[in-house]
Amino acid sequence: MLLQQQALLRQKLLVLGSLAVGSLLYLVVRVGSLDRLQPTCPLDGSLRPPDAGQILLRSLQFKRVLLLHELRKGNGTPEQVHLHAPVQQLPRALIVGVRKGGTRALLEMLNLHPAVVKASQEIHFFDNDQNYARGIDWYRGKMPFSFPHQITIEKSPAYFITEEVPERIFKMNSSIKLLVIVREPTTRAVSDYTQVLEGKERKNKTYHTFEELAVDEATCEVNTKYKAVRTSIYTHHLERWLHFFPAEQLHVVDGDRLISDPLPELQRVERFLRLPAAIGRANLYFNATRGFYCLRFSPLFNKCLAGSKGRTHPAVDASVVEKLRRFFHPFNQKFYQITGRTFDWP
Ligand code: A3P
Repeated sequence: MLLQQQALLRQKLLVLGSLAVGSLLYLVVRVGSLDRLQPTCPLDGSLRPPDAGQILLRSLQFKRVLLLHELRKGNGTPEQVHLHAPVQQLPRALIVGVRKGGTRALLEMLNLHPAVVKASQEIHFFDNDQNYARGIDWYRGKMPFSFPHQITIEKSPAYFITEEVPERIFKMNSSIKLLVIVREPTTRAVSDYTQVLEGKERKNKTYHTFEELAVDEATCEVNTKYKAVRTSIYTHHLERWLHFFPAEQLHVVDGDRLISDPLPELQRVERFLRLPAAIGRANLYFNATRGFYCLRFSPLFNKCLAGSKGRTHPAVDASVVEKLRRFFHPFNQKFYQITGRTFDWP
């Protein structure tokens, strides 16, 4: 009888215990999954739990943090301290352009990878003569601290179109990996115009329309002197890079796809940089208010790009759009040939 009562009591305790643990787990998952920075924005199905690979990487990171904590407390051998000390490393990969291609989004998204550390600012070391004259140690001093197993990535979109840059980068590191992110050339030109227009409007300055700048009034031809047009002739610039670097060292990212479905583009970059696959669906979610994918670093930390990314473009006369598209067409074909990647640009 006593034994029966004891067994019953044990069973009840077990049920109560399971209920308590279950409720606690539910609370942790529920609170942790709240989108704290964007509480009102709908999310897509990206709240799926991270896959096993990601969990492994995160636990490795966690272990690293614990180890560092021990080292900081002085509980490590000199070799361990030396091996794990963060240092300012020169970039092993550069996002060299193209302006308005999605360079910021690419950098921020790659920074989700535990082995990538971004230089937050555009340093403009290779395209600005004054900065370049300051020397490589000045450049290194601008880099973030990172661990030896991590790679630093910098982005300055002006690198892509500036004549001297490929040679200067080659002199620093002839085996550096280069990333070029491109968008449909006419859209990119309009995006470029929109950015300049916004700057003018902020200073209360009047400005030409896109149509006035992109088409030569006298000849009715595309105005190749207009910088936004010249920048979109990707093949012209690319050829300069290929005088110094073999095509295998240069990876082209589809900026239009990075907007609509970023993960496959990021996975290609991971492979190009020979990084273990670590960025997953759980790291990206579509924010309907912004109209773009945003970044999820952890259940508690999300971030969208600043409002200056994803501006509304002015309406452009359809005949001018058509003229530009026809103009870019042969250059695009050449670009596909050189890069071995075809885009569905008109
Ligand atoms: P628009 O402002 O024309 O839409 P860059 O960083 O090179 O200046 O590129 C800016 C472009 O990045 C934006 O151009 C935007 O379309 C694109 N972009 C790509 N992914 C984005 C994201 N997740 N959030 C905001 N903008 C993104």
